[in-house]
Amino acid sequence: MKVLILGGYGAMAQSTVPDLLSSPGVERVGIAGRNASKAEAFAASQRDDRATSVSVDARDSADLVRELKRWDCVINSTWYDLNVPITEAAIAAGIHYCDLGGLYHQTLRQLKLDSRAKDAGVTCILGIGSTPGTMNVMGRHGATKLDNVRKVQLRSSGAVVSGGEPGKFVPPYAIRTIFDEFSLDAPILRKGKIRFVPALSGLERSEFMPPVGVVEGYYTIHSELATMPKTIGKGVQEMDFIVAFPPEFRETVATLVRLGLASREESTVEGTKVRPYDVTSSVIDALPKPKQPELDVDIQRCVLVGEKDGNPMTLRYEAVTWPHEKWKVGGGVVDTGVPPSIAAQWLIRGKVKERGVVPPEIAFDPVPYFQELNARGRKIATAPDFWATKRRSGFGQSIYCAFTLVEGRPQMRLPQKRKPVPPF
Ligand SMILES: NC(=O)c1ccc[n+]([C@@H]2O[C@H](COP(=O)([O-])OP(=O)(O)OC[C@H]3O[C@@H](n4cnc5c(N)ncnc54)[C@H](OP(=O)(O)O)[C@@H]3O)[C@@H](O)[C@H]2O)c1
Repeated sequence: MKVLILGGYGAMAQSTVPDLLSSPGVERVGIAGRNASKAEAFAASQRDDRATSVSVDARDSADLVRELKRWDCVINSTWYDLNVPITEAAIAAGIHYCDLGGLYHQTLRQLKLDSRAKDAGVTCILGIGSTPGTMNVMGRHGATKLDNVRKVQLRSSGAVVSGGEPGKFVPPYAIRTIFDEFSLDAPILRKGKIRFVPALSGLERSEFMPPVGVVEGYYTIHSELATMPKTIGKGVQEMDFIVAFPPEFRETVATLVRLGLASREESTVEGTKVRPYDVTSSVIDALPKPKQPELDVDIQRCVLVGEKDGNPMTLRYEAVTWPHEKWKVGGGVVDTGVPPSIAAQWLIRGKVKERGVVPPEIAFDPVPYFQELNARGRKIATAPDFWATKRRSGFGQSIYCAFTLVEGRPQMRLPQKRKPVPPF
């Protein structure tokens, strides 16, 4: 099994690479990017002969196709606006592909490559990280337990639990994506139709388990909305994605956006054309890092409101990920970087039957997928364990089917002995 990771020394790949190297049957892991010395350094840090550095620029499609032909699957962990050309290159090379999401618009463009991927006999899984990714799988799985679905809420938050330094600005993932999340209109589903609302509208306070607590979140452009209304079906009328960043971080990014420092419009500075987006992102990427990396706990929550056997029912699924002590990365890196490793292995082993361009909720059989997360030291728990969760040493992502709530007045509407809906 030979897997190439484009963006292989980037933030999310810090868990993809070690996860692949600790999985059975993996012969070679390619760590690819434009900077050969960074690729070599990260490959060497793995202390494993199977980790190989690869120097490639994904914008050079002929070179990329040549390189991809040497691998069984490519994980695209670069910046999301390269998704379309990299998907096209994977199809041309005849290998499987997965990525970490296309911020809605790129995802729609990629879905148009479906028949080309089918003709090539390959599978391209779009957005298999935490969210999009595990979130989509939880959502589709929950929907199979309901007769109809009225509303789906997708929520994401987290909190730093160790490391960091006061005054150091540390984006949790690619600042380019965060700039776009803070500036592009966000798709939301209302009355069964997608409409767009301004980024950072829709203020919502919600409570997560400690140490996250009560947070403020906003509508954000995300690719779950590009596929889940259709794949969930069952008459779903309402769906939205809300992310809650720490207030100080949110204010800083919002200010940069408001000042035009994250704009993709070209400006001429002393005769040179530049895009503030590129300049500010590069400056932020080069900022000094804290001596101890910021490690977070990361949570994705998917709430489905609908009906089962004539009774109103709300299902809430929650994926909680703590830092990985051995890999020295936070929960947000573990829950984003491990799913593409699982995806690549399933694709190569033939465990994903679909061909073409598909979202994770179609590609993955949910229970084996959750079990695969379990097999990596994570736990699947049901309601009683939910708030009692303790940080366990070593590792962990936990997926909880937290509550099977019945809305309204259950004592009047439920049958005497109601069978609980099993979480998985
Ligand atoms: N689904 C989810 O849950 C989720 C969560 C977080 C992030 N994401 C997405 O994951 C992606 C990666 O995020 P990240 O935080 O890991 O970003 P990152 O740290 O900036 O890493 C991206 C890597 O891509 C490489 N790259 C950029 N342009 C390239 C090119 N033309 N050819 C080859 N390599 C190139 C960069 O290296 P060089 O510049 O040296 O080439 C960099 O190492 C982003 O698109 C982000 O939006 C998804």
